[in-house]
Amino acid sequence: MAPISNDAAFWSKRSRKYAANPIGDMDGYLNTLERTKSYLKPGDTALEIGCGTGSTALLLAPHVKHITATDIAPGMIEIANEKLVEEGLNNVTFAVAEVKDHSTDDSPYDVVMAHNLLHLVTDLDSALAHIRALVKPGGLFISKTVCAPYNAGLKFALIRYIAIPIMQAIGKAPFVEFMSANALEGKIKAAGFKIIETGDQNGMLLSRYLVVRKA
Ligand SMILES: C[S@@+](CC[C@H](N)C(=O)[O-])C[C@H]1O[C@@H](n2cnc3c(N)ncnc32)[C@H](O)[C@@H]1O
Repeated sequence: MAPISNDAAFWSKRSRKYAANPIGDMDGYLNTLERTKSYLKPGDTALEIGCGTGSTALLLAPHVKHITATDIAPGMIEIANEKLVEEGLNNVTFAVAEVKDHSTDDSPYDVVMAHNLLHLVTDLDSALAHIRALVKPGGLFISKTVCAPYNAGLKFALIRYIAIPIMQAIGKAPFVEFMSANALEGKIKAAGFKIIETGDQNGMLLSRYLVVRKA
């Protein structure tokens, strides 16, 4: 078995606490959930990467033929599988995987999703290229990503350049990159996607919701 990465260990250790925490901005979450449902079709084969404890995948499952939902952290997938048993759904598969562990043979998915993940990925350009290869021609990539606030002031600078690096050095924070929402969109377009919906969710941090089609 491959050794677990630092980020996988970080998220696994926090998985029970993450599952117990209520969603910070429930209205924003429900809004993007409904937007996402509006793009799904009953015959779709879907993949969610970085699914955490699987709540979103379980809510989306009734709207697609099958959803595979994966996460780098075994602890998150353990909880997701417990929820799956409780829900009794038969069109959901949870598995431990990193973005690039997914086979791109035959570009298998109508829809790929990544919610609150892209800012945590170390090599975003190559992750986006891999995600594009997973999507069928004309298929969708739907994501929500924490970005740098528009008017990032001193408080944000202190968090980004002092507090987070200190926490990372002692293993209390994972890799994180706060891009501007424009920079994020630029990278997604450069990876070969066409933007069809974009919008912000303004919680404690700016979150950019994007629906893009494989160009
Ligand atoms: C902020 S949580 C978001 C979980 C869920 N998508 C949500 O919106 O509640 C980020 C998740 O991404 C996972 N993760 C971090 N880096 C990853 C990677 N490179 N590949 C796959 N999953 C990753 C973490 O284990 C964690 O469960």
